Amino acid sequence: MENKNSFYIFDSHAHYDDEAFDEDREKVIDEIINQGVIGVLNCGSSLEGTLKSAELANKYEMFYAAIGIHPEFADMVDENVVNKLKELSKNKKVRAIGEIGLDYYYEENPPREIQKKAFRIQMELAKELELPVVIHDRDAHKDTLDIIKEFPEVKGVVHCFSGSVEFARECIKQGYYIGFTGVVTFKNSKKIVEVAKDIPLDRILVETDCPYMAPSPFRGKRNQSDYIKHIINKIAEIKGISPEEVSRKTIENIKHLLKVK
Ligand code: NI
Repeated sequence: MENKNSFYIFDSHAHYDDEAFDEDREKVIDEIINQGVIGVLNCGSSLEGTLKSAELANKYEMFYAAIGIHPEFADMVDENVVNKLKELSKNKKVRAIGEIGLDYYYEENPPREIQKKAFRIQMELAKELELPVVIHDRDAHKDTLDIIKEFPEVKGVVHCFSGSVEFARECIKQGYYIGFTGVVTFKNSKKIVEVAKDIPLDRILVETDCPYMAPSPFRGKRNQSDYIKHIINKIAEIKGISPEEVSRKTIENIKHLLKVK
């Protein structure tokens, strides 16, 4: 592989279990390893995705799994599902509960009260298992922060962050990291650039959210973890520091959160 990155990458949020990778999953994973990706947190969305996340983490040394039910499927969260998550959490490669949270963007998502209930149940589970959380928040900043505050013992990341500088500061105050996707590289992005400028490097994580959210110049294409180099370069540019420093610190941050050596 040419164009090998001069720095390493840890993808703090990916979905390699997604059907978008069914055709060539192994090939893509080999490719990202060759391109300097040294870690991936694969996040479950459904119970099926969670099982596949754990399988990927068993198969690849550099993969870790987050297990949880996305707000899109909040109506499926019941005692039975929680017990399955508990059982799965015994796997040493399971390092987080996620992705969980609130998504008020899509009309067809379960009602808000059901989403909040599922979110609280899984925050409670994270507290009990002493695992960090990966939070999905879309158009639900206030309710997300309110529930985060109900669980002061729980720490984690607000992934694919889309809020304001003020909201980022509030999340950081609660001990959370802020997850940056390819959105920060888009020409028309202002808000997230402001956030990157404002918050300290020791609170920043980088992520693909692949197969979605590919950074510029791959916008609209299927995303993969080595593309994070464009996110790292952009954050370095915004902060006026070297990409190597952004790489080093974001790896340290995610390893600290997941308790990876
Ligand atoms: Ni995601």
